[in-house]
Amino acid sequence: MALKGGALSLPRPGPGEVLVVIAQRRTDIDGMADAIAGCAAADLAQATAFLHDGKRTAFLAGRRLARAALEAATGRAGASFILVPDANGRLDVHGEQGLSVCFNISHGRMHDAAAVALGVRIGIDIEELAPPDRDGVAETVMSAWELGHFMSLPAHERDRAFLRLWTRKEAVMKAAGVGFLVEPRGFGVGVGDVPAIVPAGAGGLPGGPWFVVDLPGSVPGAVAVEGERRDLRIVHA
Ligand SMILES: CC(C)(COP(=O)(O)OP(=O)(O)OC[C@H]1O[C@@H](n2cnc3c(N)ncnc32)[C@H](O)[C@@H]1OP(=O)(O)O)[C@@H](O)C(=O)NCCC(=O)NCCS
Repeated sequence: MALKGGALSLPRPGPGEVLVVIAQRRTDIDGMADAIAGCAAADLAQATAFLHDGKRTAFLAGRRLARAALEAATGRAGASFILVPDANGRLDVHGEQGLSVCFNISHGRMHDAAAVALGVRIGIDIEELAPPDRDGVAETVMSAWELGHFMSLPAHERDRAFLRLWTRKEAVMKAAGVGFLVEPRGFGVGVGDVPAIVPAGAGGLPGGPWFVVDLPGSVPGAVAVEGERRDLRIVHA
């Protein structure tokens, strides 16, 4: 990975790959300058609306990663993409004739991530800390069989299992573009080592089936892909 005045230069993903870029969020001057340099003018204009500095920093970091990943996947300048949210807040690339590119962004507590793929719908989620009331939240997001498995685990394994399930589920809901507008207990991704395939139509999700791949490494996360299993090409920026 090379740096060009703050913009990231990422490897081009192979045809069967999802490019994932993860970066620790930087709040120092150089980090902010890099984020700004990697964004488009429209991102900077949008960023001025944030009242909370932390939210603004995360927003710019996410846009920088997404634009660099879009550039790597398509060969077109990252800043040239017009990113437009749909009615549910999901961003799409606007007006790109003949270009079937899909991307998604996620913000963790200390990291930001973006994923880009050609020809398939994807979603990404990272989540670094389980909530203090983890077991209570589990009841609100896990299906009966997931909850049974989860509660059978020893307490010291539950943070990891919770984050695994949460990020898998949110990746699917983001790939489908609906987020928590659907009931997360209505479909299953599993808490075990191997994610379950989510069949088309499960839990009222539009589209599918959904294939989930867990992110390897220290930042808990997952990528969901519609219709086929894909390998992840992961870059830590
Ligand atoms: C999608 C959702 C789960 C994201 O939750 P979150 O805690 O912000 O999670 P993440 O940090 O992983 O994701 C944030 C990114 O998801 C993307 N996103 C927003 N809404 C999305 C959606 N419906 N589907 C897919 N991705 C979405 C955005 O790019 C956002 O990053 P940005 O604000 O910097 O552009 C949550 O916003 C949700 O449930 N939305 C449901 C729809 C809704 O409430 N719509 C009302 C607003 S229009």
